[in-house]
Amino acid sequence: GAAKPVIVAIDGPSGTGKSSTSKAVAAQLGLSYLDTGAQYRAITWWMVNNGIDIADPSAVAAAAAKPEILSGTDPANPTITVDGVDVAGPIREQDVTSKVSAVSAVPEVRARITELQRTIAASAVTGIVVEGRDIGTTVLPDADLKIFLTASPEARAARRSGELKGADLHTTREALVKRDAADSSRKTSPLAKADDAVEVDTTDLTLQQVVECVVTLVEEKRAGK
Ligand code: DC
Repeated sequence: GAAKPVIVAIDGPSGTGKSSTSKAVAAQLGLSYLDTGAQYRAITWWMVNNGIDIADPSAVAAAAAKPEILSGTDPANPTITVDGVDVAGPIREQDVTSKVSAVSAVPEVRARITELQRTIAASAVTGIVVEGRDIGTTVLPDADLKIFLTASPEARAARRSGELKGADLHTTREALVKRDAADSSRKTSPLAKADDAVEVDTTDLTLQQVVECVVTLVEEKRAGK
């Protein structure tokens, strides 16, 4: 019969290579791919565009169920829409990036987005690579394989400023450290390594090396090792 779908959780702070690694692993193994950070960015984008005061958690909570957020899970072409609007570009802007930690700390937002994530993961036919902050700890605690990616703050800032065209390294590093501190210290489902996650320090590894490492771990799991 058909193989059981394989569920891979990839967590870690910003700039550790989660997205590039997750997409490449999913593509190589023929799995779906879900960027959960994009979902939190999308709901944040909607809040900002609908005049919700993001400094007011009760206003954010009251609006949390309103936007329809759809994620396309093809690793070669991941898409994200809010109420039918393609927001792949706008969700990467500085304004959304600076507000996403506050919005994603609201429990009603997390409950809503977590439910979407579990539905998507459950419908993946061959399996899925899900990247985020709390996938191994909260969203998919029964994942077949959990990876926790780390890297030095210097390496993470360098990678991020490469992604964000023209961004200043020092400013990028400050913003990134601040966002990770907020994501790690929030009450509901903070950024954390699951006890049974494999930690991979990517500071001195190429993307290809990290991908090979994760692909090997998935194959070992599938072989029942
Ligand atoms: O991965 P990213 O930088 O696009 O994520 C944006 C923000 O979304 C991140 O700062 C915290 C939040 N996030 C979260 O709270 N839980 C997740 N599973 C993924 C992202």
